[in-house]
Amino acid sequence: MKQVSVSVDNHQYPIFIGENLLSSGSLISDYIASDQVLIVTNPTVKELYLQPLKDALSSFQVEVFEMSDGEVFKSLETFEKIMQQMLLKGFRRNATIVALGGGVVGDLAGFSAACYQRGIPFVQVPTTLLAMVDSSVGGKTAVNHPLAKNMIGAFYQPQAVIADLTCLSSLPAREFSAGMAEVIKYGLITDFTLFEFIEQQSTALLARDAKALSSIIERCCQIKAEVVNADEREQGVRAILNLGHTFGHAIEKAGNYRHWLHGEAVAIGTMMAFQLACCHGLIEQSYVERLETLFLAFNLPTKVPSSTNADELFETMRHDKKNISDKIRLIVPNGLGTVIITEQFDRDQITQAITSCFD
Ligand SMILES: NC(=O)c1ccc[n+]([C@@H]2O[C@H](COP(=O)([O-])OP(=O)(O)OC[C@H]3O[C@@H](n4cnc5c(N)ncnc54)[C@H](O)[C@@H]3O)[C@@H](O)[C@H]2O)c1
Repeated sequence: MKQVSVSVDNHQYPIFIGENLLSSGSLISDYIASDQVLIVTNPTVKELYLQPLKDALSSFQVEVFEMSDGEVFKSLETFEKIMQQMLLKGFRRNATIVALGGGVVGDLAGFSAACYQRGIPFVQVPTTLLAMVDSSVGGKTAVNHPLAKNMIGAFYQPQAVIADLTCLSSLPAREFSAGMAEVIKYGLITDFTLFEFIEQQSTALLARDAKALSSIIERCCQIKAEVVNADEREQGVRAILNLGHTFGHAIEKAGNYRHWLHGEAVAIGTMMAFQLACCHGLIEQSYVERLETLFLAFNLPTKVPSSTNADELFETMRHDKKNISDKIRLIVPNGLGTVIITEQFDRDQITQAITSCFD
């Protein structure tokens, strides 16, 4: 088992990475504050992993909240149902919420923990690759509003993150690839050795080899922990985690959040950021090609259909919540494994980068 430590303000917590951790009662019990536990999960994950987790928590009074599966249920309505169940069951302020699932469950359960009685302990048990390397680490919790994604939320850190690699064996191939887009991103923003490792180990990773997976998940968590330690509230360096995301969010929105998975849109968005950087002399064409080859090896898309409206994407990017002026704030590469945060690109340059990724 590997362990990464995250420390934010005065709160320090571990991320455990290994096989068969779910069923290890002694591991999770250390992070449960009292006898009251609410596991938040969905039907897909419940079927696969609830029982081993319940067995591990058999000495506690465990309640289960089952939300429907899907981004659309990461809502205030589901949040209210969780509050209701906790109130009806007489949950106290030292009760613990355990999030068992992907990023949707983790974000909603974390936000619920942040709000119930002004904050109760919670533990993340991520079951998707994306949740293991990204959403379960760093304390961003949120629900969606019908007008915009992730607009209602809180920074709220868990007591522990338990990433059981065994869960990845049941993950659908498309979801696995979407998680790999975020993994590759970590290599691009700060650690080119990780990028090269992914290139060399692509066959093992696609076969979900536990050793290769645990290496990349550990490295991604270390990078995220370092970035979050330095800048929990995204006042500065944390923004680099958004490489490909401003383009990506616009691509997701243009597809009505149904056509692309988040990681797929991030892969295309990262290609756009690379095209932009290459066109303006920040990186070599060979780096762009190398990235595209790696995305394709993981069955990730690198282009949008030519029917895409570039102006519409640009307008969505203009309203991105990460902009701090009327300029678009982008993360772009400026060398192997390094990026800059910049507002230097104008409308024509950005739309040209978008159209250069038309199919
Ligand atoms: N908080 C953050 O910092 C942060 C960062 C990135 C993304 N997010 C959020 O994360 C969410 C996306 O997370 P996601 O990609 O994990 O999607 P998800 O939670 O929707 O999970 C994807 C699908 O996989 C299923 N699933 C989960 N684990 C499984 C397993 N082990 N085997 C089989 N099926 C499994 C789920 O039921 C779901 O159908 C979005 O809401 C996004 O906004 C948050």
